[in-house]
Amino acid sequence: MFIQLEDATVTFKGVEPIHALKAVSFSVNEGEWINILGPSGSGKTTLLNVIGGMLQLSSGSIVVDGKNLSQLKNDDLQSYRRTIIGYIFQDYRLFDQYTVLENVMLPQWPYQPRKVIEEKAKTILQQLQMGHRLQALPADLSGGEKQRTAIARAMLHEPKLLLCDEPTGNLDEENRENILNVLSELNKNGVTILLVTHDTEVAKRGTKQLFIRDGKLQK
Ligand SMILES: Nc1ncnc2c1ncn2[C@@H]1O[C@H](COP(=O)(O)OP(=O)(O)OP(=O)(O)O)[C@@H](O)[C@H]1O
Ligand SMILES: [Mg+2]
Repeated sequence: MFIQLEDATVTFKGVEPIHALKAVSFSVNEGEWINILGPSGSGKTTLLNVIGGMLQLSSGSIVVDGKNLSQLKNDDLQSYRRTIIGYIFQDYRLFDQYTVLENVMLPQWPYQPRKVIEEKAKTILQQLQMGHRLQALPADLSGGEKQRTAIARAMLHEPKLLLCDEPTGNLDEENRENILNVLSELNKNGVTILLVTHDTEVAKRGTKQLFIRDGKLQK
């Protein structure tokens, strides 16, 4: 099993604690494409954050690619995020002071020769129809262009697991199809995909759907 959650629970402490995930259990085989659907605030992003090693469980367990994430030391967790995971954030998280090309290269900058990542970054950006915007700053990009930059960044290091939080939310139909085809191609080559979406067209692509409501997985 590639991903296994057992009673995964996340409670955000505060004046009024928020139970964002409530004893969620499911498993995913390598190479699957799982769509995650559910209303706003139901815990979808929280679930991706947990699987991406960005957020610790309050209780329960999560194992990805043979690693029990709650037991990983900081260095190992960082390396897990950097090598296994590609994360397309709901809000892109681009660095304003860097160009499109630099944004895509940045996470791998310290770890691979610059020439190598620059070539890869250019190829991926071209594939995503961003080849003409390499030197643009995020502030000058459209929503869809920001999204495609974020997608290129998540793909650069050829992750085994791609976590996509509404990756087509800002795209028109043509761009959406283009992104979905890129994701399909990656999936065919063995990349496991977990994708949060509200879009029923997007949801048709996957091998399985998970519905989440009020922090609970719907059976
Ligand atoms: N860092 C945090 N601190 C406190 N509460 C949080 C935090 N992050 C998320 N929450 C709360 O946890 C619940 C689940 O949030 P989450 O972002 O996972 O929802 P979502 O399903 O991704 O929603 P959307 O579709 O609007 O993106 C919400 O009630 C949210 O307010
Ligand atoms: Mg969300």
